Amino acid sequence: MARRGSSGRWLDRQAKDVYVRRSKQDNYRARSAYKLKDLNSKYKIIRRGSKVVELGAAPGGWSQVVSEVIGKQGCLIALDVLECDPLNSVQFIRGDCSSHAVREQLLEKLGGARVDVVLSDMAPNISGIALKDEAASIHLAEVAADFCGDYLKRDGTLVLKLFDYPDTIEFIKNLKTLFSEVIRTKPTASRAESREFYVVARGFVI
Ligand SMILES: C[S@@+](CC[C@H](N)C(=O)[O-])C[C@H]1O[C@@H](n2cnc3c(N)ncnc32)[C@H](O)[C@@H]1O
Repeated sequence: MARRGSSGRWLDRQAKDVYVRRSKQDNYRARSAYKLKDLNSKYKIIRRGSKVVELGAAPGGWSQVVSEVIGKQGCLIALDVLECDPLNSVQFIRGDCSSHAVREQLLEKLGGARVDVVLSDMAPNISGIALKDEAASIHLAEVAADFCGDYLKRDGTLVLKLFDYPDTIEFIKNLKTLFSEVIRTKPTASRAESREFYVVARGFVI
């Protein structure tokens, strides 16, 4: 039998994955759409009319889910270093979320207003070197928490992707000083073998 490389194994896994099949049927750009759907049905994070900033939005699966929920009265500004095909009613900023230029563009689009929800599904490129990957993932989590200080309303909600590394515990401890409730959760569409999990942090204390 021919040996399968890592790309072959990835293709096999994609072909068998129920969420990949569902995302094709439902016209979502990524299987990750079901992670946010699951989080939102459990925790009622996004509602009709919500104002939302999304970090790490490409290829746009979460953005599709958010725009379905918020309707015409809502607002979604989505950011990513990668290009993202346009979506109706989503304003997109391309660039690194930790850069000053991106923050300035966001500030301008928001006109100084704060939002109800900050979402971050940002993930670093995995190198396989544990210490490096841990530092990169904590850095992105800190960037997202920092966005809350500048753009999230008092009592607002942060949804954040994290990875299970030793320093993540300390990060969550710090997050608890900024939010009245911090829930650790793993949506059903998040692969069991992945270190990934999410926190839903509610009741932002400015
Ligand atoms: C898992 S994907 C997001 C998938 C998205 N939630 C969806 O449903 O389509 C993670 C994204 O984070 C982005 N990202 C990583 N670091 C970033 C940074 N510093 N600034 C902006 N985006 C970043 C990557 O480019 C990638 O598109």
